[in-house]
Amino acid sequence: MGLFKEFVVGGKTLSNRIVMAPMTRSRADFQGNVSSLALEYYSQRATAGLLITEAIGISPQAHGYPFTPGIWTKTQVDGWRAVTDAVHARGGLICAQLWHVGRVFASANNPLGLAPVGPAAVAAEGQIFTKGGPVPLPVPRALSTQEVRSTAADYGTAASRAFDAGFDFVELHGANGYLIEQFLSDEANIRADEFGGSANNRLNFLRAVLDEVESAAGGLSQVGVRLSPYGDFNGINHSNHADLFDRVLGLLAARKPGYLHLIEPSVSGDGSRRTAKGDQAPDVLKIAHAAFSGPIIACADYDRARADATLKNGCADLIAFGRPFISNPDLVERMRDGIPAAPWDRSTFYTRGEKGYTDYPTLASAPHHV
Ligand code: PHB
Repeated sequence: MGLFKEFVVGGKTLSNRIVMAPMTRSRADFQGNVSSLALEYYSQRATAGLLITEAIGISPQAHGYPFTPGIWTKTQVDGWRAVTDAVHARGGLICAQLWHVGRVFASANNPLGLAPVGPAAVAAEGQIFTKGGPVPLPVPRALSTQEVRSTAADYGTAASRAFDAGFDFVELHGANGYLIEQFLSDEANIRADEFGGSANNRLNFLRAVLDEVESAAGGLSQVGVRLSPYGDFNGINHSNHADLFDRVLGLLAARKPGYLHLIEPSVSGDGSRRTAKGDQAPDVLKIAHAAFSGPIIACADYDRARADATLKNGCADLIAFGRPFISNPDLVERMRDGIPAAPWDRSTFYTRGEKGYTDYPTLASAPHHV
């Protein structure tokens, strides 16, 4: 029954070990204001021990996908305040995922029509969705050293705004090939200043972000960090995954954020871990647990049985579930009572409006429920 035991993170008590994973749902408006439906969506799921929001742009420059939310204007903050109030009214806890897309950007998706920036003028392989159809990922303009510092400061400002909006935690999106991971990468980051070059220098952007957020938040106990070791989403490449992961874990072990959230390499048919390229990947939870003594959230297509086994082996404290939460607002109660989860409809993951967003029934509300 490990999933249903309380757990304390940064002084806040999660009522169970079930976390809703961050998921883009594309219901915000083009200016990055969260939909009024979002408060219903999140509060419907408030029995999760912790809700992590969809990725939220920290600044206009950070914002590269249409209909994703931001947290840089007062109107955006007010929208989020309504969400956190609704979640708290239902006894839940909610974390804002702070996002800068860097080079994974399309000007057509940006409310100000800005041009892309990144650690260096190196494009990622792949395409990005726009209203006009998919377009190749652009070659970004390399940020100046001063701009790198001000971008780190934007994370601090966004964290302050998130706490003003009533969030319990913020999570730094250091995964999936977005800006923080771009700085970590020896392929994306070929800078010659203190933010690039050596492996140690490539950690300096993450260090600067942690510094800024720490001073904005008065500490790091309410601040999580999400990573995707061995991943290659959004065309990110690292020549030495093992060395980079060790170094990032060393940094986090020293800085002690409130939690570490890991997207694990996926499990293949034979039960081993594989990178997207099909190479064998190590057990990243085990490596993280040995290096980092704080709470760890594991995220990797978990079902109930694997979640229990992972909590039992002690390498993670919390388990994040993604798509099952889309189609099961009462996922926690279903897992507790051994009731199968309802299937999700992929065709409405990123559409507009309530269909596939706030209209999935709970067992209690389903018309056929007896
Ligand atoms: C997306 O919007 O497609 C998206 C956002 C954040 C992620 C992954 C995907 O980490």
